[in-house]
Amino acid sequence: MKSLVVYYSRSTITKKLAEKIANQTNADIEEIKPKVNYQGRIGYARAIKDARSAKNIELETLKYNPADYDVIYLGAPVWASKTANPLISYIKQNKNNFKNVKFFLTAGSSGFESSFEQMENESQKPLKTLNLTTKEVKQDNYDLKSFIS
Ligand SMILES: Cc1cc2nc3c(=O)[nH]c(=O)nc-3n(C[C@H](O)[C@H](O)[C@H](O)COP(=O)(O)O)c2cc1C
Repeated sequence: MKSLVVYYSRSTITKKLAEKIANQTNADIEEIKPKVNYQGRIGYARAIKDARSAKNIELETLKYNPADYDVIYLGAPVWASKTANPLISYIKQNKNNFKNVKFFLTAGSSGFESSFEQMENESQKPLKTLNLTTKEVKQDNYDLKSFIS
């Protein structure tokens, strides 16, 4: 099974998880880079505002075509109980090229359910989902076995 891990990460937590998933599944990995700047204090405020309005944003050129893969792992942080805009924008722009999807999210503590729902509404029912807190990712306190099998 050919897999692609696609993720957005603002402060490297989701990145850490994405790299581990890619490593354990021998997948190619695509980091989504938004053209909008979400860094710093102004970027944080913009992220909250964009998440609330589910704003579609422009992304830098991508390396991989999801149509070439059997499973796409889609990952992002939760922003204001929504899925971070760069990933939602990716999904909107590429959903017709997904065969099967699995979703993974990181968050401080809450907003997983509404974010998974949003991802599913924008694409299709996932084969599996995985949600981890920032702390669990930082401490490597999780097991990927059932998610990647
Ligand atoms: C703009 C913004 C909004 C956030 N909203 C939530 C939230 O609604 N619930 C929550 O538990 N964590 C929230 N967080 C925390 C992040 O989801 C969490 O720290 C995540 O692991 C960061 O992942 P990253 O390092 O890949 O960007 C928010 C963070 C940011 C920057």
